[in-house]
Amino acid sequence: MIELSLDNFVRSLLKRGIAQLREADVPSFTLAAELLLLHILGRNRTWLYAHPEEIIADADTQRFFDLIARRAAGEPTQHLTGKQEFWGLEFEVNPDVLIPRPETEHLIEVALDRLALRELRAGRPQKSAGEGLQIADIGTGSGCIAIALAQELPSATFVATDISPAALAVAHRNAQRHAVADRIRFLESNLLSALRSPLATRHSPLSFNLIASNPPYIGRREAPSLPREVRDHEPAAALFGGEEGYELYANLISQSAQHLKPGGMLVLELGHNSLPAVQPLLDAANWINVGVTNDLAGIQRVLAAERL
Ligand SMILES: C[S@@+](CC[C@H](N)C(=O)[O-])C[C@H]1O[C@@H](n2cnc3c(N)ncnc32)[C@H](O)[C@@H]1O
Repeated sequence: MIELSLDNFVRSLLKRGIAQLREADVPSFTLAAELLLLHILGRNRTWLYAHPEEIIADADTQRFFDLIARRAAGEPTQHLTGKQEFWGLEFEVNPDVLIPRPETEHLIEVALDRLALRELRAGRPQKSAGEGLQIADIGTGSGCIAIALAQELPSATFVATDISPAALAVAHRNAQRHAVADRIRFLESNLLSALRSPLATRHSPLSFNLIASNPPYIGRREAPSLPREVRDHEPAAALFGGEEGYELYANLISQSAQHLKPGGMLVLELGHNSLPAVQPLLDAANWINVGVTNDLAGIQRVLAAERL
C-alpha cells in the first residue's frame, strides 16, 4: 500500500520515486523518476519544476508508483513510457524493437557527411534533398535510421528490412508518425536476401546509393555482463550477432557489395570490439575510401566505405 496521508504534492511524489529507484540501483534514477511522472501527468519538465506544490490525483499517484515498481524491477524506462528520442524525433518503442541509442546518431552523421562529400565532388550544392537517391536500412528495428535519413533527405526513397515482422510493424507506425511512410518500403528479409526478387531481376539488380545498417553485434558470451534492462527486456535478435558478436558482418558486407551502385556507400555501426574482425572484410578489390569514426566515448563505432 502507498501512503498518501501527508501530501500528494508533485515534489514529494518525485522525491519518493527517486528514493525507491536509487535503492534498487537503477542507473540515472532521478531522470527515470522524472520521465515516469511526466508520462503519467502528460506534462513537460518545465511544468514539473514550476508546480512543485501541485496536488496529484490518487489514481495518478497509484499509476506512478506502479511504474516506479516496474522500473525498480528492471523494465527499461522507455518500455514504460513507450517512447525514445533519436535524432530529435520521438519514436514509439516496445519490447519488439531495440531502443534507439545515441551512438547510432554517429551513423546518421557519417552517412550525411559522405553524401555531402559526394555532392561536392560532383560540383553540386553540398546540401541536397536526396533527389534520385535509393537508400537501404538493413535491420531497421524501430525504423530510426531510415526515418532520420528520410527526414534529412526529403526526396530520397528507402527500403528498410528486418527479420522480425513485429519490429517492422513498429517501424511502419513510426514512419507514419513522421510522415515518411510513403517513401519507405518495409520488407521482411534476412539481411538483403529478399531484395533479389521480385523487386529485382538478375539483369536489373535492385541497387542502392547508400546502405546503412546497425546489425546485432553483441556476443552471446557477453550476455551475462549486460545490464538486466538490456539482457532481459530487449529482443535477443536485436542484440546478439552470434557467439562472438561480429558474425553477421561477412554476409552483410558481401550482400551489400552486390546491391550498391558503383560509388555507392556502405555505413555500418560496430560493436565496441568489432573493428579488427570487420574491417578486413572490406577487401580492396571491391571497396575504397574506408573510414572509421569514433563515438563520444572514443569507441570505433562507425565503419564506412565506398563501392568501387
Ligand atoms: C541492433 S538492432 C538495430 C535496430 C535499429 N536499426 C537501430 O539502430 O536502433 C538490429 C536489428 O536487426 C534485426 N535483425 C537481426 N538479424 C537480422 C537478419 N539476419 N536480417 C535482417 N534483420 C535482422 C533485428 O530484428 C533488429 O531489429
